[in-house]
Amino acid sequence: MSKKILITGGAGFIGAHVVKLFVKKYPQYEIHNLDALTYAGNLENIEDIAHASNYKFIKGDIKDIDFINSLFDKERYDGVIHLAAESHVDRSISNPNAFIETNVLGTANLLNAFRDIHQDNFKDKLFYHVSTDEVYGSLGETGLFTETTPYDPKSPYSASKAASDHMVRAYGNTYDLPFVISNCSNNYGSYQFPEKLIPLFIHNIKNNKSLPVYGDGKYTRDWLFVEDHAKAIDLIFHQGNVGETYNIGGFNEWTNLNLIQLLCEMMDEKLDRPKGTSAKLITFVKDRAGHDRRYAIDATKLNKTLGWTPSVTFEQGLDKTVDWYLENQAWLENVTSGAYQEYYKKMYETS
Ligand code: NAD
Ligand code: DAU
Repeated sequence: MSKKILITGGAGFIGAHVVKLFVKKYPQYEIHNLDALTYAGNLENIEDIAHASNYKFIKGDIKDIDFINSLFDKERYDGVIHLAAESHVDRSISNPNAFIETNVLGTANLLNAFRDIHQDNFKDKLFYHVSTDEVYGSLGETGLFTETTPYDPKSPYSASKAASDHMVRAYGNTYDLPFVISNCSNNYGSYQFPEKLIPLFIHNIKNNKSLPVYGDGKYTRDWLFVEDHAKAIDLIFHQGNVGETYNIGGFNEWTNLNLIQLLCEMMDEKLDRPKGTSAKLITFVKDRAGHDRRYAIDATKLNKTLGWTPSVTFEQGLDKTVDWYLENQAWLENVTSGAYQEYYKKMYETS
């Protein structure tokens, strides 16, 4: 069946993988990619599908109500897969308003526009909201986040994502707007902006720069290969139940220090450096304010109801990821030049 689908944030890390998967897998769909091209968005991430006949890039801001309304009026999208967001916790600590504006108000603009064009007939329409496990807050040493874990966001980023999730559910309840939400754990893989742990540390190891570990380094994250997230989004978009939430994660918990140790070992080998060289770069720095101790996702529902499982182990995914960054130094150099230098100085030289 032919559909016109709007993917937001498709020039960012996860969005680029989702856009590419949909454009290649569904030639019968018309895929529009709406992205404001903030510091995190980069057209190089989607270069290989730029000229596909079922694809169009639209530069625009989800905060711009008039622009969003006229775009939806004109294009009358059957589906929206909404990924555009401010996504970095550290930036949300220094500039929370940017997160409220894009993540909360921007999401509301999309919901209003989607409701307004279809409110007489929502048949076969879907608003897919891509969210995060951080809305559930922080775990102690045991337990997992399930779809019914109460929301308890603790950073401006996670609070803004939680607010947007609540708005999506409220539109479902109030206007019968058909939606699905997925809450995913930490992603890693190609095209991730190197302000996030894994690409930042790969970049620093390569350049013999220190590896800034926040606090005691015993914070725990549950890591998922980005291509497996994109596949889960495809499955949920097509087979998920309207009005439901799906947690996505790989049952793959690592303390930051253990992960960094593994990364250092891999990098020593790939860069042909004596064992232990990269680990010497580890430097403990001031902790992130309000740092969530542990995230861990229970993805049983997605596995049992839709049959999704991750396609790679963490070691395989990390190996591919390290290779990608080493083979794509030009991409890294491009995104770390200019404004990023200022951010890095401000963020790390005072920690
Ligand atoms: P990212 O920061 O790499 O990309 C975000 C994209 O959104 C960029 O291309 C940016 O230009 C665009 N964007 C930002 N503000 C915009 C605006 N006002 N209008 C239009 N476009 C705008 O983020 P990501 O890591 O790819 O995350 C994508 C989504 O997935 C986010 O909603 C995030 O909350 C969620 N998520 C991320 C992770 C993760 O580990 N990275 C895990 C779970 C959920
Ligand atoms: O859980 C999903 C979330 O994962 C997503 O919703 C967010 O968009 C994404 O950014 C990510 O959030 P985290 O804060 O967990 O990711 P980050 O890569 O920033 O940090 C991972 C862990 O590493 C965290 O405990 C903080 C720590 N860290 C991070 C950086 C950048 C360091 O110790 N040093 C660093 O320099």
